[in-house]
Amino acid sequence: MVEPIRMTTRADRKKFIVEAGYNTFLLRSEDVYIDLLTDSGTNAMSDRQWAGMMLGDEAYAGSRNFYKLWETVTQYYGYKYLVPTHQGRGAEHILSQIMIHPGDLVPGNMYFTTTRLHQELAGGTFVDVIIDEAHDPANLHPFKGNVDLAKLERVIRESGPRKVPYVCIAGTVNMAGGQPQSMENMRAVSELCHREGISVVLDATRAIENCYFIQQCEPGYESKKIAEILKEYCSYTDTCTMSAKKDALVNIGGWLATNQQGLFEEARNLVVVFEGLHTYGGLAGRDMEAMARGIVESVQDDHIRARIGQVEYLGNHLLDWGIPIVRPVGGHAVFLDAKGFYPHIPQSQYPAQSLACSIYLDSGVRTMERGAVSAGRDAKTGQEHFPELELVRITLPRRVYTQAHMDVVAESVLEVYENREKARGLRMTYEPKYLRFFQARFEPVK
Ligand code: F0G
Repeated sequence: MVEPIRMTTRADRKKFIVEAGYNTFLLRSEDVYIDLLTDSGTNAMSDRQWAGMMLGDEAYAGSRNFYKLWETVTQYYGYKYLVPTHQGRGAEHILSQIMIHPGDLVPGNMYFTTTRLHQELAGGTFVDVIIDEAHDPANLHPFKGNVDLAKLERVIRESGPRKVPYVCIAGTVNMAGGQPQSMENMRAVSELCHREGISVVLDATRAIENCYFIQQCEPGYESKKIAEILKEYCSYTDTCTMSAKKDALVNIGGWLATNQQGLFEEARNLVVVFEGLHTYGGLAGRDMEAMARGIVESVQDDHIRARIGQVEYLGNHLLDWGIPIVRPVGGHAVFLDAKGFYPHIPQSQYPAQSLACSIYLDSGVRTMERGAVSAGRDAKTGQEHFPELELVRITLPRRVYTQAHMDVVAESVLEVYENREKARGLRMTYEPKYLRFFQARFEPVK
């Protein structure tokens, strides 16, 4: 399917971004030229997936597409039990409500926005145990998504293992710049946690992209297939939450999968309250069919090489021009280092938010802030978080844009970089209570 895109003038875009309160989430899609806001649900489905959409069994209970999805998840990810959800945060909600008790700590390799909020709403506190290298955009560590085992051990020692319901591991790590975790590190995390009687929960949203980096960079995995690496990676974990809108190449869908029968039974019960019956979890039968087919396509080595190759292509372009980005280039996006880009704008004036707006104004390319605005406030003190990483994410949907589009994007970033001294910071004029980055409004600082 081909979708027309519309060019706009700079005067149009100025009007649109003011109307949107200087927040790219509040722009209308029609007013965007190349949409690199997210890789979530923005993938192009294949002919086989579309054909599968015609085979939806829309029975309220026991849809055949559900059983097919279950078998496919078990075949490729290895988990015994499956509970479908409408998207990733549906699974995070259910998992958090079941496993977290007030006062618990949930260690993880850097926070993700919705994941942390669900942990907090259940009374838990997220503790970051990622390696220090992850917080430095210029550090070239090949596995910046790794857990610092000493940090993790310290959390478990100090609180006692009973206060840690599970450790949450994301592969790749979105907020760190799409950075992977090594198999060796996952194995070590698993050994440590299981010795202490703590479960390991994988955020499998981009686990296949993580496996590509293992194949490329970790000794012993060069000649293994992605599907084989994925199976091993998941085998070190007990449970996963999944936003299928990324790796699995669909526009909507997710799941909670587990090897733990007790958790499965509780999740299957709770999903009925929040999402829908346990054989559809808020999805249509056809969506589950498209997801099952998407999984099969997502583990093909050629697919994943082309997908991450495109991200690398854009990243290398920007690096050649000396533009500050997070290195190594990650799996799903190129992340601009807004502190390096706009050193004259203090973090309290949201340089990354301002940079995302400058890029939109220049070319109509839509990106997103991943810095202080996304980080929000401390749940207890109400103080704003100011993370080390103040980034703009240029996120690539799968199978949508061509390398020529990437050239347009790179040229626009260069143009904005060359005019960087003129940029100004922003002031927040409206701040929603939850996940503020989605709906906050801003105006330029005078
Ligand atoms: N975990 C990770 C690592 C994610 O990136 C996302 C979503 C979720 C969980 C939640 O899944 O959106 O299906 O409810 N990330 C999107 C993004 C929003 O743009 O990165 P969801």
